[in-house]
Amino acid sequence: MRIAVVSGGNRGIGLEICRQLARRGVHVVLGSRDEGRGNAAAAALREQGISVEPRRLDVSDERSVKELARALAADHGGVDIVVNNAGIAMQGFNAEVARNTIEVNFFGALRLTSELLPLMRAEGRIVMVTSGLGDRRSVSEPLQAQFGEAALTREELVQLMRKFVSDVSAGRHTEEGWPSSAYAVSKIGLNALTGVLARELEGDRRKILCNAACPGWVRTDMGGARAPRSVEEGAETPVWLALLPSGGPQGGVFRDKAPAHW
Ligand SMILES: NC(=O)c1ccc[n+]([C@@H]2O[C@H](COP(=O)([O-])OP(=O)(O)OC[C@H]3O[C@@H](n4cnc5c(N)ncnc54)[C@H](OP(=O)(O)O)[C@@H]3O)[C@@H](O)[C@H]2O)c1
Repeated sequence: MRIAVVSGGNRGIGLEICRQLARRGVHVVLGSRDEGRGNAAAAALREQGISVEPRRLDVSDERSVKELARALAADHGGVDIVVNNAGIAMQGFNAEVARNTIEVNFFGALRLTSELLPLMRAEGRIVMVTSGLGDRRSVSEPLQAQFGEAALTREELVQLMRKFVSDVSAGRHTEEGWPSSAYAVSKIGLNALTGVLARELEGDRRKILCNAACPGWVRTDMGGARAPRSVEEGAETPVWLALLPSGGPQGGVFRDKAPAHW
């Protein structure tokens, strides 16, 4: 049986991804930064006849991520699917918002994926839950070129994300070509990370595929009640990428199961 980890699995799109993967016969580890909320979400799924394994997972906390990796190795001997769904969209814009948003939305996905990659089995799948707001055109042309650079490395991307946070702190982010949206920059970074990881996986015998899914505007706590899409619709593309057959796409950003411009 394939083992999947879903971050931010206790509510919203993440919970629905857990539900759909479990329905398709995957053993789902539902990650939740609050243990009580994770247990409650798992209990609610159980009422629908769906069994998942709730586990504490705060993607901004190195120790929590390492603890999950240890538990997966001990209890399951590895992992097949990693869905980086956890995300925040904070009100306002200042240095703290920039730091926290990049920490969770970008570094959280990088941290979890890096920790779990050594445990991933052949034909593993990594999915980033991104956003249409992660469009490179919202940064200056020089930054667009850097994010889109075909040979961009993990270290260079990490430096770019750190530079955004320090530019905001220093009050120079506009001159440096960044938008006043930490969320948008975090998702541009996540899209670029998808390509970086895909390149790092070239030549890896396990044939792991790494892709990003934009769920569209979805009715969740984050998306609000006016959003046109249900969580079922929002989870469709992430679940499709999580279950891609062999030889599927690598390093792409998708919306409605089709390549998306970013
Ligand atoms: N809704 C939309 O319209 C929309 C559109 C485009 C992209 N997205 C993306 O889709 C993903 C899910 O969004 P959503 O709408 O379902 O949001 P949501 O309802 O606000 O749920 C966010 C989830 O992320 C978790 N989370 C936040 N920080 C975390 C951390 N440090 N460690 C672990 N989990 C953490 C939350 O846990 P708690 O319950 O503990 O807070 C919650 O489970 C996000 O990446 C979001 O950016 C959403």
